[in-house]
Amino acid sequence: MKSIEELSVDILINNAGITKDNLFIRMKAQEWEDVIKVNFTSIFYITQPIVKNMIKKRWGRIINISSVVGIMGNAGQTNYASTKAALIAFTKSLAKEVGSRNITVNAIAPGFIDTPMTQALPGDVKDQYKKQIPLGRFGSPKDIANCAVFLASEEASYITGEVINVNGGML
Ligand SMILES: NC(=O)c1ccc[n+]([C@@H]2O[C@H](COP(=O)([O-])OP(=O)(O)OC[C@H]3O[C@@H](n4cnc5c(N)ncnc54)[C@H](O)[C@@H]3O)[C@@H](O)[C@H]2O)c1
Repeated sequence: MKSIEELSVDILINNAGITKDNLFIRMKAQEWEDVIKVNFTSIFYITQPIVKNMIKKRWGRIINISSVVGIMGNAGQTNYASTKAALIAFTKSLAKEVGSRNITVNAIAPGFIDTPMTQALPGDVKDQYKKQIPLGRFGSPKDIANCAVFLASEEASYITGEVINVNGGML
C-alpha cells in the first residue's frame, strides 16, 4: 500500500468529524481531546504531505468541512464548534500560502444535514433546530456534495480562502 506521501491527490476533502457534546462545565478532558484530535489535529497530518505534492504539480483543490456552529457557536458544543472555527482560520491561512501554486483552499459550513451525526439527536431537539431554518428542513448530504463538486471544478478556479454556507438560510 502506498504511503500518504506517495499518493497523488488532486482534490482533498477534509470531511472526517465527530461530536462528543456536553455542557462546558461538565465536559470531560477526554471529550475535549477526542474531538480536537479527530476534527482538527488530523488536518495537519493529512493535508501537509498532500499539499506538498500539489505544490510540485502546481494544481490542487482543498475543501475543508466546517460547520455553521463554527461561526455562530452552539451550547453543548464548545469542543466541536471550536474545531470548526479553527478549520476556517486554517482554510484562510493556507489559501494565502499556496494560492501562487494554483491551489485553492476553501471551506463549506453546512447547517443541519440529515446524516448519522444528526440522526442521533432526540426528536424534540431536531424540531427546535428546524424552527431556526428558513427552508424548514434539514439538508441532505447531496446539498453538501454539490457545493464540493462546484469548489473542485474549473468554474470555481478563482475562489479561494472562502467559506460557503450551505444551511437553508440559518445564517
Ligand atoms: N450532519 C451535520 O448536520 C453536519 C453539520 C455541519 C458539519 N458537519 C460535518 O460534516 C462532516 C461529515 O459528518 P456527517 O454528518 O456525514 O457525520 P457522520 O458521522 O455520518 O460521518 C463522519 C465521518 O467521519 C469519519 N470519521 C470519524 N472519525 C474518524 C477517524 N478517527 N478517522 C477517520 N475517519 C473518521 C467517519 O468514518 C464518517 O465517515 C463532519 O466533519 C461533520 O462535522 C455535519
